[in-house]
Amino acid sequence: MLDLNSNEFVQQYWQKRPCLLRNALPNFESVVSPEELAGLACEEDVHCRLVLEDSDDKPWTVRYGPFEERDFLDLPESNYSLLVSECEKWMPELYELLEQFRFIPDWRIDDLMISYAPAGGSVGPHIDQYDVFLLQALGTRRWQYCETPSPDDPVIDGLELAILQDFKPEQDVVLNPGDILYLPPGHAHHGVALERCMTYSIGFRAPNAVTALESFALESEPFEAKSERYCDADLELDRHHAEITDKEIARFHDMATRLLEQSPELWRDAIGKLLSDSAVASPDDNELQPVYLSDLQASSWIRHPESRILYHRSAQSIEVYYNGNMHELPLQPEILEQLQKLCENHEWSTELMRESIEIEALRNLLIELAKNHAILPLTD
Ligand code: SIN
Ligand code: CO
Repeated sequence: MLDLNSNEFVQQYWQKRPCLLRNALPNFESVVSPEELAGLACEEDVHCRLVLEDSDDKPWTVRYGPFEERDFLDLPESNYSLLVSECEKWMPELYELLEQFRFIPDWRIDDLMISYAPAGGSVGPHIDQYDVFLLQALGTRRWQYCETPSPDDPVIDGLELAILQDFKPEQDVVLNPGDILYLPPGHAHHGVALERCMTYSIGFRAPNAVTALESFALESEPFEAKSERYCDADLELDRHHAEITDKEIARFHDMATRLLEQSPELWRDAIGKLLSDSAVASPDDNELQPVYLSDLQASSWIRHPESRILYHRSAQSIEVYYNGNMHELPLQPEILEQLQKLCENHEWSTELMRESIEIEALRNLLIELAKNHAILPLTD
């Protein structure tokens, strides 16, 4: 169990300042060995990279995977790191670990990256734009980091990696297995393996304003024909005919602001779809395979490893968002409670499926989730 007072942590540290959590996961043991991690890095579709220091005549080099066994045989003795992103998608047992961080909303969790480095290995001093919990999983790593954020520190020119030109750490600590270092966005850090070591990075995401606006624009598209049009009953004549005036720009700005402010449902769906969007493509209508009640009852089901299932509560309804889609349910305590149970579990047992199917509105949702591959039958 994660030894952390979540209220205290959020009040004092979350998005505010780094926090060193000694022995936060007592007796923690990595679920994967360095060899198994290297094996995973050879699998198709796995996002991974090797970072090498002082190799190929450059201070830092990055090679992208998936790799082949011989790529590892050619590596130097030290001063490299292997990093594998989205490990939870390939090793579902890692969801148990992510579970410990669920005091932060599901949609904020990005992925669990695992790195391996022999003594001396690191990815160089750098700054991340996202919150991260760095969990020491094997061996020891020295972390140097800054207490104050400096997101715009200059990086070394001409490298594929954003390595800081001038890193001046304010803290210097050694992490042992089970220790966690939390870093908010923008804090420079540098972690060097003191021996063969593995670090788990539980990373969070924070979409930016442009992404939110893009999603809003996409959601608004079907209503384009009905949307307010530019009007200028007070047309100014005292201007050059080629000029675009500030007043005209202000009219566009006001028109767009009115659209943003007067469309709460559009915002709700834009954000719900954005946050639940995933790499899982929903099949085209003509490719949708029918899903029968008997299919849902026949086995346990598991969420597609890339799917997120989230919900929003409105005055009369619950909007369920999955893979960038929305499904509306009536707002009733029994439905909400059962939906929450589904969202809490990664694997949906036959018992949980049976209970859910008994509620008609949820039965339809389950059929839709299955048709769209947001959930998959668990075959033995
Ligand atoms: C690592 O695991 O070596 C790097 C993680 C990080 O600095 O974000
Ligand atoms: Co980092």
